[in-house]
Order: sequence, then structure tokens, then C-alpha cells
Amino acid sequence: MKKQNYQWPEYTVGTCYYPEHWDESLWESDLDRMLAAGIRVVRIAEFAWNLTEPEEGVFRFDFFDSFLDLCAEKGMKVIFGTPTATPPAWLTKKYPEVLNADQNSIPYEHGARRHYNYNSPLYREKTRIIVTVLAEHYGKHPAIVGWQIDNEINCETCEFHSEADQAAFRVFLRETYGSLDALNRAWGTRFWNQTYTDWEEIRLPGHVLNKGWNPHQRLDYLRFVSASARGFCKLQADILNQYKKPGDFITTNALFWHIDNPKMFDESLDIFGYDSYPNFAFGLNRSELLKEHGYGIEGDLNDRLSGKSLSEVRGICPHFGILEQQSGAGSWVSGMEGPQPRPGQIRLWAMQSVAHGADFVSFFRWRTCSFGTEMYWHGILDYDGRDNRRLREVAAFASDLGKLAPLCGSDYVAKLAIVKDYDNACDAEIDAWHGRLSFPDENTIYQQAQRSHVSCDYLHLADDSALEDLCRYPVLIYPHPAIMTEARAALLKAYVEQGGTLILGCRTGYKQENGQAVLSPPPGLLRDLTGSIVRESGFQHPAEPTVTVNWDGERFEAPVFQDQLDTEGVATVLARYDSSWFAGTPALIEHRLGAGRCLHWGSVFSRTLLEKLFAYAELTGRFDGLLDAPEAVEIAERKKDGRRFLMLLNYLPEEQKIVLRKEMRDLLEDRFVSGTISLPPFGVLVLEV
Ligand code: GAL
Repeated sequence: MKKQNYQWPEYTVGTCYYPEHWDESLWESDLDRMLAAGIRVVRIAEFAWNLTEPEEGVFRFDFFDSFLDLCAEKGMKVIFGTPTATPPAWLTKKYPEVLNADQNSIPYEHGARRHYNYNSPLYREKTRIIVTVLAEHYGKHPAIVGWQIDNEINCETCEFHSEADQAAFRVFLRETYGSLDALNRAWGTRFWNQTYTDWEEIRLPGHVLNKGWNPHQRLDYLRFVSASARGFCKLQADILNQYKKPGDFITTNALFWHIDNPKMFDESLDIFGYDSYPNFAFGLNRSELLKEHGYGIEGDLNDRLSGKSLSEVRGICPHFGILEQQSGAGSWVSGMEGPQPRPGQIRLWAMQSVAHGADFVSFFRWRTCSFGTEMYWHGILDYDGRDNRRLREVAAFASDLGKLAPLCGSDYVAKLAIVKDYDNACDAEIDAWHGRLSFPDENTIYQQAQRSHVSCDYLHLADDSALEDLCRYPVLIYPHPAIMTEARAALLKAYVEQGGTLILGCRTGYKQENGQAVLSPPPGLLRDLTGSIVRESGFQHPAEPTVTVNWDGERFEAPVFQDQLDTEGVATVLARYDSSWFAGTPALIEHRLGAGRCLHWGSVFSRTLLEKLFAYAELTGRFDGLLDAPEAVEIAERKKDGRRFLMLLNYLPEEQKIVLRKEMRDLLEDRFVSGTISLPPFGVLVLEV
């Protein structure tokens, strides 16, 4: 993990402001009201290209000069956004090659946003010019504290099929493979007569019958999209670095698909930014999708969906910033209808971000826009700008943060990490066999950790990850790493040997880096580590009774898919299948190696199995017996300078009882508490142990 170059020195509250959406006569009172509510930073300008370059090559600075000068006068700090997510109409009309295209190679029209591609030499040049002009002019402005690159890179779409992308893909492949022979081998092009004899024959995986893409080509395509997006981000970061003031930071609001986010952070950013919209989990159009992943309309785990993303962000950058925090009902005019946050939820969700590692929380947006696609994306204020309960809640949150000053910059404490890597995330998307296991399991494991209060991080593994990053956790779960490389296998082995517990699920290690199957028995490169091999494997038909295993006389489900395991004579069988035609076959094998152990489980992770596995791996959520809290309450432990804090978040509209076994200081109320106490609906409690 790269050390972050910037950390907020104190908890800071911000909001997203669009001076271009309002009459200039409102600016001053808006800033005054923000300051009165505890808002110290505004993020601006990320879609406002025209305001600086209304015509090609004609630049004006009066608009943002006036606004920034007013901010400086008021003492309001500013994060300035580069405007490349929305190219001007004059640009796309004159240079249509900058537009992105869909999988059928049909270009997008001007309008909406993010309709450009990263590889058009012309768009890169126009980007270079506008970013340079902005950075040169505003870089030293005293109001500015940081820069946001573009807006939500790879949001809206993460598929790229313009002609510029076609050409760039071929360059990417030449650099990767050097020769067509090597590419043909890596893509297995002998299958279905796909052999390439000229680089120009190669296209992005586009409009084919029955989604019958070559999976190895698609894997490289997703690596290419990541490289393109990261390259576009770096192009801007390199310019900003030349002009920004020392101490100002570069960030972007990230965590979208088809980007190796940790790599983007390493290459270009000083601090990682994230946009947190917990209400997506309650969206009117999303309930079916969410149900599939174990989230219900009434479920108290819905809020943990945003917690899961925050945990992933923390795995990239431990002390991050929230560039957009939900403050009102969300919706575009064309869809995504969402309920409005209930009283208490704005503060609760903002505290969730803080509990997970945000030191900066900026609410989206100051006032709801009265026109455009996002007329229903409610900000703190409504169209009319009256004081309202949402503003009062934001102000209460800002005042609460003042009381939590000692927690700022504290480290999240976790004993368990879920391991992820970009190759396998891509493979799970391309390969239905892999995706059917990986996507639900990630949720099941995170949810079970939440339910049992086992604090859980994400560890993003790459070939150059440092062993010490792994060694921070006594237990790692790497659910289904189908693709394995020698470097990662060596890291995992070293982790186990020094004393770690590594838990692997079915379908581990059966693919090479290019997505082709290994020709030795799975788990391939991990065989030494697991002390096991897979004899046979396959899906269970949903009409058949769920397969079960017996572990120490207890029965557990081994649903969906089963690897029938065998020891290689060096490991111990902990559990065996006790149903289906392969009853009696090993299902869970433990291999002790050096000071640690590897547990190889042959199926996906059911909730009850995880309970037992957590207990077996000595993962408890008791916080050394300090307290008992119901499942509906999330607990985050944070440590700094020898001080230990617990943040408790109640996601339900009913009060929850917490039993404190030791007297602790309640930081928000400034009093000592012990025994049974109640956490109000959507309430937050912050304790110093
Ligand atoms: C974010 C985006 C904002 C705004 C907001 C509400 O994804 O960065 O510009 O669109 O969602 O839709």
C-alpha cells in the first residue's frame, strides 16, 4: 500500500457548490450560511468547462476569479474540479472523434455526461490545454486547498468502443505481447478460428453473437480500459502537480468499475476520494437486484452496502475524503427514484463515513438544482433555499465532529481482511462460473463479519504488494482467486509461514494470468500452500437438496458449487461432504505451514459456515469483552496515539440496547457511561475506552 501524500489535519465538513447554477447575488449569503453551519470547504467547477473556455482557444477567468476571491474573503476553502467529464458542445461538434461509442460502435450524442473517450489524441490535447490553463491561473489562489480530477472516472459507463479506443487497444496489445504469435497463444485463438495475422485485424470485443466473446481478449480489454482511465487521470495529475501550491492535494471521486483503483491511487492521487450514497440500497428501482445479493427492503444490512464500499476505499487509502455525501433524496428525472433520508440518517451516514476512515465529508449538494437531469437529486436545501431539517442535521453533524477531534487520523482496527485483486474482479465479470461464486460471496462474507462485529478490511493484492501489508491481519479470506500468479502465490505462502491464517474457497488457482486453465490439478500454483488438490468439481442443480458437510459433528451447507478435495498426505481433513453422490469426500482441508495455516474450503461460504470458520480462526466481535451490541449496530474500533475509540452506529429506526462492561467516556455527550444504555433510532455513540 502506498503511503498517502496528504491527510486532513482535522475533521472537515464541506459541500458541493455550483456557483454557475445560481444568481451571483446568492453567493455571499450561501457562503455565510454554509460557514454558520460548520461547512469550511466547497467543491466547485467540475462540470463548468464552458465558463473558462466558451469558444475554442478563448479563455476567460472572470467567473471563477470572482467566486474564488469571495471565498478567500470569507475564509471558505475550495476544492477545484477539472471539467473534463463534460466536454463543451463546440468541442464535440467540431471533433466528433472525442465521443465514446457503445459496444455496437455507435457513438454517443453530445449531452448527459462522460460521453468522451480517454484515448482520442484530440481529447487528450484539449484536456491538457484546459487543465493547464486552469492550474496555471488558479493554482496559487489562496482559497484553493485541493484539486479533483474529472468526476467519477468510469461512472455512467465503463465500456469504451470508439475508433480511438480500437487503435489504442492495438497499441496496448503490442506493448503487452510484442508479437502476434504471443497474442494468439495468450488468447487461445486456435479456438473458433480466431487466429490474427495482422494487428489491424484486432478489434475490441464488441457486437458478437450470444456474448460469445473470447474470454482472454475480454480480460485484456478490461485491463486496457483500466490502463486508459488511469492514463487519463495521470495526464491531469502530472499537470496539476506542476502548478498547485505545496501542500494542496490531488484527488478524484472514485471506486468505479473497470479500473484498478489502488493502482490509480498510486500513480496519480495524494488522497483517495469517494462519493457515498447509502440510499442507493433503498432505491425504488433496485430492490430486486439487491434482494439477489441478500439485502431486503426492510433489511438492517442495506446500510452496510455503503460500508462495504467505504471499507474497500480504506484498503486503498486509510484516511480518505468523501467528496459527495448524500444529504437528500436522490434521483434523476429519468430514473433512480429514491426515498429521502429520515431524520437522523444524514448524520448517521456521514458518521459511517467517518467511522470507516473519512477525515473530510462534503455533502452533495448545497441547494437542489431547479433545472436539468438532476432536478430530483436533493441537496441540503430545497429549490427555495429555506432553512430546513437537513441543514440543521448537517450543522449538528459538523458540531459533533468538533467533539470527535481526537479521532481524526486514527487507524481502523481489523483482524480480518477480504482479499481482492483486479484480475480476479475482471475474471468474475467475464466468466459466469466465477461470477456466480464471487459476487454473492463477497456480500455474504462482509455481511457476516458485520453481523458478528468482526471488524473487516479489504486488502487489494497485486504482484508487488508488500508482505507487511498482509501481515497486518491474523486472518485473510481470499474467497475465489481463480487466477493466480507466481508472485501472488509466493506472497500468500510467506504470509502463512510467518503465522497467518489464510482461508480460500472453491475454484482457487485453476487459471493462469491470461485466463486460460492451468494444466496441472487445481489449485495449481497454490498446491504447496493448501496441501490439497481438487479431484472433481461442479455446480449443484438448484432443484437438488443443498449439499452439506459434517464438521466436528455439526452440519453446514456447501451450496452452489463443490470442489471435491483430497489431501496430498500433508494436510488434515477438517470436514467432509455428507450428502450427494460424493458424500465422504473432503470438503475442508487444513494445512499447517511454518507458523500459520491455510484452510481450503471446497464450496462457497454460507452464513453458518462463516460463523464456525470465524470461531475456528479465533475471530470474535467481542472487543475484548468490553461490550455487547445487537447485529443492527455497526461497531468500528479506531486507535491513535495509544488511545482507543469505539464508534457505534444504529441503522434501525428503533432504539437498541448496548451493554457496556466497563465505564467509558461518551465523547459526543461528554460524560461517562456504563451498564445497559440505549442507542436512539439512527443514533451514533462514540466511546473512548
Ligand atoms: C454523483 C456525481 C454528482 C451527482 C451525484 C448525484 O455520482 O458525482 O455529479 O451526479 O452523483 O447524482
